[in-house]
Amino acid sequence: MPLEDLTRLREQAEADLQTVEDLDALSAWERGIFGPKGALTQFMRSLGRAAPEDRPALGRAANDVKVALTALYEARKTDLDQVALRERLASDAVDMTLPGRRPLIGVDHPVSQTIRELSDIFALLGFQTVFGPEVETGHYNFDLLNIPSDHPARDVWDTMIVDTPNSEIVLRTHTSPMQARVMEKTEPPVRVVVPGRTYRYEAQDASHEWMFHQLEGLAVDERITMADLKGVLREMARQLFGAHRRIRFRCDFFPFVEPGVDFAIDCMICNGAGCRVCKQTGWLEMGGAGMVHPNVLAGVGYDTEKYTGFAFGLGIERIIIQRYGINDIRAFAGNDLRFLQQFATAHV
Ligand code: FA5
Repeated sequence: MPLEDLTRLREQAEADLQTVEDLDALSAWERGIFGPKGALTQFMRSLGRAAPEDRPALGRAANDVKVALTALYEARKTDLDQVALRERLASDAVDMTLPGRRPLIGVDHPVSQTIRELSDIFALLGFQTVFGPEVETGHYNFDLLNIPSDHPARDVWDTMIVDTPNSEIVLRTHTSPMQARVMEKTEPPVRVVVPGRTYRYEAQDASHEWMFHQLEGLAVDERITMADLKGVLREMARQLFGAHRRIRFRCDFFPFVEPGVDFAIDCMICNGAGCRVCKQTGWLEMGGAGMVHPNVLAGVGYDTEKYTGFAFGLGIERIIIQRYGINDIRAFAGNDLRFLQQFATAHV
């Protein structure tokens, strides 16, 4: 256990430290000296076997070596920590001058955008927006709309039937069943619009979908006349398509209105002169409308002597098609981003 062993241990440790290049190697070096089986630890343990008169000097010398090697270890560790930090900073560096990556933000579907727009327009005219069930009973989809089960008009709706055994359950063929649902719950005056999905067993083509959206309108009060209907629809057309729009009413038949009309607006592309979009007619078809049939009012218990009302139903996809010159209605549910992204700038 001579002093020379200690000197050699120290020299060896210092030499080894010269070759240490990274933090892993440094901690291996540290374990090799100070760890439970390390050289200095072993030396300290062996002190007990030294001659008693040599022990104090050996102990002091061993302690000096420990202090010196610890100082060397600390210094080297500080150096290597700095190197590791510099390397990390260099590899994690962010070039602040690069342009940012624009995050993809979704946009509302054109149908949703239009429903919101229509809802805002009708709110200004005093109409509340309400929603109704897409799965309906035959009672609301037909019976309360003056279309009894034995009536041939029931056939024209191309109904998708969900379940029939006892009661008729259908996917609503139009938003009109909400007329009765609203009136059953409300006393006049009533002013509502009802946007939503509708379903028909329809052969699809460029202008027909089996699932599409309608917006129903209903106003019931004392002394409501056809003039109110015309005024409201004309105002809607002007808000939506511009201040100079005109509307056209032609006779049509719907069992739940009397008189019934189809309504159109003059084509905003050609101002009524005739073009490709309006198929040379000068008019764009919007939907059906009319004065609520007294049987419908009576069906929900309204006093038909006191109250009259108007109702209308327009096809939302068809409006958008005409507004933007879209050539195929199937694009709406086709989920093609190239189609949908074109509406990104409209309302964002
Ligand atoms: C109706 O559905 C009536 N409920 C409208 C109504 C309401 C009349 C209140 C009177 C009073 P119609 O079947 O015509 O009517 O449909 C109305 C609109 O929905 C049409 O003008 C059209 O724009 C749209 N539409 C109808 N079928 C389809 C379809 N297969 N694909 C896309 N849009 C359609």
